[in-house]
Amino acid sequence: RILIIDFGSQVTQLIARRVRESGVYSEIHPFNSITDSFLDDYNPKGIILSGGPASVTWAESPRAPEKVFEMGIPVLGICYGQQTMMQQLGGLVETSDHHEFGRAFVDINKDCALFDGVWSVGAKEQVWMSHGDRVTKLAPGFEVVATSEGAPFAAVANEEKKFYAVQFHPEVVHTPHGAQLIQNFTHNVAGCSGDWTMAAFKDQAIDAVRKQVGNGKVICGLSGGVDSSVVAVLLHEAIGEQLTCVFVDTGFMRMGEAEEVVNLFRDHYNIKLIHKDASKLFFDALGDEIDPEKKRKTIGGLFIDVFEEEAKAAGGADFLAQGTLYPDVIESVSFTGGPSVTIKSHHNVGGLPERMNMDLVEPLRELFKDEVRELGRELGLPEKFVGRHPFPGPGLAIRIPGQPLTPEKCDILRKADAIYLEEIRNAGLYDAIWQAFAVLLPVRTVGVMGDARTYDYVCALRAVTSTDGMTADYYHFDHEFLGRVTNRIINEVRGINRVVYDCTSKPPGTIEWE
Ligand code: XMP
Repeated sequence: RILIIDFGSQVTQLIARRVRESGVYSEIHPFNSITDSFLDDYNPKGIILSGGPASVTWAESPRAPEKVFEMGIPVLGICYGQQTMMQQLGGLVETSDHHEFGRAFVDINKDCALFDGVWSVGAKEQVWMSHGDRVTKLAPGFEVVATSEGAPFAAVANEEKKFYAVQFHPEVVHTPHGAQLIQNFTHNVAGCSGDWTMAAFKDQAIDAVRKQVGNGKVICGLSGGVDSSVVAVLLHEAIGEQLTCVFVDTGFMRMGEAEEVVNLFRDHYNIKLIHKDASKLFFDALGDEIDPEKKRKTIGGLFIDVFEEEAKAAGGADFLAQGTLYPDVIESVSFTGGPSVTIKSHHNVGGLPERMNMDLVEPLRELFKDEVRELGRELGLPEKFVGRHPFPGPGLAIRIPGQPLTPEKCDILRKADAIYLEEIRNAGLYDAIWQAFAVLLPVRTVGVMGDARTYDYVCALRAVTSTDGMTADYYHFDHEFLGRVTNRIINEVRGINRVVYDCTSKPPGTIEWE
């Protein structure tokens, strides 16, 4: 396996993605968390040093542990990783006036194991750069294998030691052959076999769960989302009857969702499933509350209460299973040190493990979202579950902004949302969109239907593309499509007489309306 040492680049996770895509397992660890004994225990076949926002010319800039270069294993430095590697091994890095950001071209001067079968001498190749500093003197033993206008040492190599360092970012898609360069590093240079697949992961994960749990009982919250669905099916395959799932129906689910969950998990998979219809409790607890954060807190708190009660009623358990993913686990490298601003308190059920005082089973801790989907497919989960858009824990409750929540309003929104999603599926657009949903606005406007005046609610439609939910662009539907959805919603949903489309990207907007 490969170790990625993180210096805080925005794209470090992509390095791990590319390494895993080459069939090699890898983990990301912050530069300041790595001790010599960790390196011995982890025993990587190769190390990659990530990029980062610091400058090695600063007095106290981050460094790779010296041991990294003394272990006799291949090392690949990327951007900041290249610079600190050069500096630490006796070269020189300087701040330059010639910054390179974005697309650039490198000239390949020399063969090198990294380029094997991908780039050949004499070629000009597209890469993606993002740097202010640059290497100005090579460390001993290195030679230049590629140059660019702004970076005379765009790629350098010490073939004998198997140290490689590049100024550009091979991990991003804007370096078209970057993934192959990384595969050359993991396979040819570091000698990894490339047999890490989802099928292999599934077997390992099942074994690990069996070992951890023994004869214990496990309880798992099921929401119908991708992550909890995959956890449930994986655990069921690992420990069968020792697993109980609890599905707390808040009343804020989408059309038909509760039935789908019960049908699939209870009837199809035969998983012990408690379906608690708690919608009245949730409506009562929320009362007339309209503040987004207070709604989230109330829903999150009540969810924990209901879950705990149901778990007790089911006879308790020794373990709590959770669909924690790798991006939640990676400790991020922070240079500012200050607390970040809370835009929305997403982790609305975050208090569950503390309250329930049980050991956690988290079989997805090592996976990225699309790897979870792949694992779901490997486990035979239907595509409809595996390919689902993300859906927030508080559900429709945060899609009815600025007005007290009522079952009637939820019904109106559910119907509009279902029509919208059905049209998206029919148009074959579902998979091209990260998330799409309807929002019921608190405004009523005048309309005319037949010969009568109407005075009904406005429905806003939202659809975005994104890769991680952190940034997003609105989806560019054609107008025919929007017109069709609008007509259907107004004709089929009593209570809505006007539909608008939200063209805000994130930032400055957020994906949800509150
Ligand atoms: P925003 O609205 O912050 O959303 O751009 C980014 C992603 O997070 C989801 N989201 C939530 N998920 N509980 C959740 O489990 C929440 O309270 C919550 N708020 C937003 C949102 O659907 C999008 O995928």
